[in-house]
Amino acid sequence: MLGLLASTIPVFAAGHSKEKEDKKAILLVAFGTSVKSTLPAYENIEQEVRKAFPDVEVRWAYTSDFIRKKVAKRDGITIDSPITALAKLQDEGYNLVAVQSLHIFPGQEYNDLRNIVEGFQSIKRAKGDVGLKKLVLGHPLLYAYEDYVKVVSALTNQFGEYEADDAIVLMGHGSDHYAFPAYSCLNDMLRRMCKNAFLGCVEGYPSFDELKQDLKASGVKAVRLMPFMIVAGDHAINDLAGDEDDSWKRQLIQEGYEVSVYLKGLGENNDIARIYLEHLKGALAQLEVTERRLK
Ligand code: CO
Repeated sequence: MLGLLASTIPVFAAGHSKEKEDKKAILLVAFGTSVKSTLPAYENIEQEVRKAFPDVEVRWAYTSDFIRKKVAKRDGITIDSPITALAKLQDEGYNLVAVQSLHIFPGQEYNDLRNIVEGFQSIKRAKGDVGLKKLVLGHPLLYAYEDYVKVVSALTNQFGEYEADDAIVLMGHGSDHYAFPAYSCLNDMLRRMCKNAFLGCVEGYPSFDELKQDLKASGVKAVRLMPFMIVAGDHAINDLAGDEDDSWKRQLIQEGYEVSVYLKGLGENNDIARIYLEHLKGALAQLEVTERRLK
C-alpha cells in the first residue's frame, strides 16, 4: 500500500511550473469489422497515415459496439470505443489529438463521434486547463462537393476498362439518417461521369429494386459488382456476392445478366485512402502538425 502511494505521489521538483512538451496522436475511427480477410482495407489507410506522419502516435477505435464485442469474444482482442481511446490518450499525456472519421458520409455514426469529440472538448478542470489541449475531428469520405468528385475519380480507376454493354454496380450500405441522400447524390454523379455505373444500397435509398430498373433501362448484359464500403465485410460477402438466392449476385444471374464480383473494400483503393489522408491533414493543420513524409 505504501509502495503504491509512494509511486503515485507526483514529484514537485524540476519542471512542475514549466510547460509540458506536446504529445501528438491520431485516432482513426471506423465502424469496425469482424472479418479478418478484409483488414487490409483498414491497414492500407493506416499505412498512408503513418507514412505521412511518422512522428505521430496512431491509434484505432471502432464505433460499433456489436463488432467490438464480437471480436473480443471470438479473438480475445480488445478494440477501444472512441470514448475509451480518447480517455487513454488523455491519461497517457497526449494533448494534441486529431480524430479521423473513416465513415462514408456524415450519418449517424459520424454524428455520434462528433458528439463524443465535442464532449471531450468541453471538459474543463478546476485549475482551468482543458482535458486535452486541442482535439479536432477530420471529415468522413463524402463531405464537401469536391469529395464526391474525387470519389468518383477514385472509383473510375478501380473500375478499369469495361465494355460498352457492361455495367458496374456498387453496393452502398444506405441509411435512414437525414443525411441519407449522400448515396443518391453519388449515384447521380457516377451516372453522369461514368458510363453505366450504378449505386444501390442494402438498407436505404436508392434500393436494389430502383437500381435494377436503371440497369434494365441501360440495356447492359454483363454486370461487375463491387462493395461501396470501406471494408468488404458481411454485407459484401453475403448480401452482395453470396450464393443464397437473395444475394444481388444470384438475383442478377436469375434475371439473365452475366455477373462478376470485385470483393475489395474501398480502403484498399489508394485514391480513396488518400482522400481520408487529405481530410486528416486538414484536421491536423488546426493542431499545427504538418506532414513529414517517410521516404
Ligand atoms: Co448493415
